[in-house]
Amino acid sequence: MSTATATAADTDVVGFRVENRIAWVSFNRPEKRNAMNPPLNRRMLQVLEELEFRDDVGVLVLTGAGNSWSAGMDLKEYFRETEAQGLKGTRKAQSEAYAWWKKLRWYQKPTIAMVNGWCFGGGYGPLFACDLAIAAEEATFGLSEINWGILPGGGATKVAVDSMSFRDAMYHTLTGEPISGRKAAEWRLVNEAVPLARLQERVIELAGVLLKKNPVTIKAAKDAVRRVKEMTYENAEDYLIRAQEAANSFDNEGRKEGIRQFIDEKSYKPGLATYDTSKQSNKR
Ligand code: COA
Repeated sequence: MSTATATAADTDVVGFRVENRIAWVSFNRPEKRNAMNPPLNRRMLQVLEELEFRDDVGVLVLTGAGNSWSAGMDLKEYFRETEAQGLKGTRKAQSEAYAWWKKLRWYQKPTIAMVNGWCFGGGYGPLFACDLAIAAEEATFGLSEINWGILPGGGATKVAVDSMSFRDAMYHTLTGEPISGRKAAEWRLVNEAVPLARLQERVIELAGVLLKKNPVTIKAAKDAVRRVKEMTYENAEDYLIRAQEAANSFDNEGRKEGIRQFIDEKSYKPGLATYDTSKQSNKR
């Protein structure tokens, strides 16, 4: 294969475009149900890095081309073919996948998983990495690993336990039974499920809510949610003081403007809406 051909194929496995401050990123191997192979994992990290600090991007949405979100890791190219290269091949493939999931977990911009179809196994890594997740009711989720003879690795078991009740996580892991998007919402694997026909509209609506927030605050807040989960109350209290102070050093005007618009201008109520960030002198 010529280098030029390899580059074109490797780039195509991830699609992206930016529209109205939303970066739409998609798994793009629909003929393979968007299973994650090494080229996709490598390309996804590049795309995420390219978009992360762009001024025209305020929210990132991760979705899938065709009728699938992602059918998880590619059993042939991610597992069988890399295992054939020995431990080195396996570890390399793992680190390439885990690298972009980690990038996404701590992404600068808020992220939404728009789950349009199949979502299996390794797909739970990027699903959990997204801050929010909206699924089509018609989507299908499953920890299918048990069905082909492995335990749900790559963080998938942790995702189930962190998102669901103990009983649901255990049932989901041991039976490998697929569940609908509606059930995934009931089990709290995603925030909500809507009919597929309304999925994009709902995601745009949610992105619109996030786009109105102060971007420095939203990054600090999403990191705080992930961090405090594993802290004692005392540690969390201390971390949150410091996280707020660190955020203030990046944007010392935001909260003052938020207070001013409520107390002096009386133009909004923080309990009910967001302050107008466009009036802030040091807009970000
Ligand atoms: N790894 C590798 N190839 C995969 C794949 C995966 N995870 N998921 C789908 N594919 C491939 C199929 O092998 C098939 O390839 P082919 O056209 O060369 O034969 C193609 O994608 C289409 O898949 P197919 O099974 O025919 O599609 P479907 O719509 O009937 O079923 C699924 C969709 C997702 C239910 C089914 O493909 C499936 O069970 N995939 C595996 C899911 C899984 O266990 N993932 C966890 C991995 S950790």
